[in-house]
Amino acid sequence: MELMEAIATRRSVRQYTAEPVDRATVEALIRAATLAPSAMNSQPWAFAVITDAEKLQTYSEQVKAAVLAEIDQNPALARYRTMLSDPNYHVFHRAPVLVLIYARTDGPGAAGDCCLAAQTLMLAARDMGLGTCWIGFAHGFLETPAVRAELGVPDHCRLVAPIVVGHPAAHPDPTPRDEPRILFWK
Ligand SMILES: Cc1cc2nc3c(=O)[nH]c(=O)nc-3n(C[C@H](O)[C@H](O)[C@H](O)COP(=O)(O)O)c2cc1C
Repeated sequence: MELMEAIATRRSVRQYTAEPVDRATVEALIRAATLAPSAMNSQPWAFAVITDAEKLQTYSEQVKAAVLAEIDQNPALARYRTMLSDPNYHVFHRAPVLVLIYARTDGPGAAGDCCLAAQTLMLAARDMGLGTCWIGFAHGFLETPAVRAELGVPDHCRLVAPIVVGHPAAHPDPTPRDEPRILFWK
């Protein structure tokens, strides 16, 4: 696939087949992510992978409960109340793989660098016929001290990007984007 085609057709995939993604493929995606640019080539990322479907199911339930518990204090989340109350809604979309991208340093550019790695991983996945979706809902939960301790996340690492990966059951059509707002062209 040409790069511009991958960019134009990448979508957040929310339906996956049950087919696993093999370890070599996940490793190839992580390696691709590390080709992203970073400030002073600092490469401040670290990766973790969860493929345990039972754990992801349990986490999904816990994320839903945690987000619902704070929904009244956060009006921006109100529109997700029905979705998160649905027992069939799986926060990780039943994808077989969750890749976690952590910043290993608290330098000013680290989070941005990790976002670049995340986008590179998502485009590489698209090129390989795989689907991805960034799961922002899970971020707060995955950063709680209890979950960090359970997963064994080193103290100096901060989660930037939780991204599920899997074989798409269907690939969504591209969605329209707003016209770019160009502030200057001097
Ligand atoms: C920081 C961030 C957090 C996101 N969190 C979620 C999420 O929790 N669940 C989900 O299904 N999609 C999530 N998404 C996907 C967005 O909804 C999606 O990127 C956006 O609607 C544009 O659609 P597209 O990715 O298909 O082009 C997130 C995307 C980003 C960048």
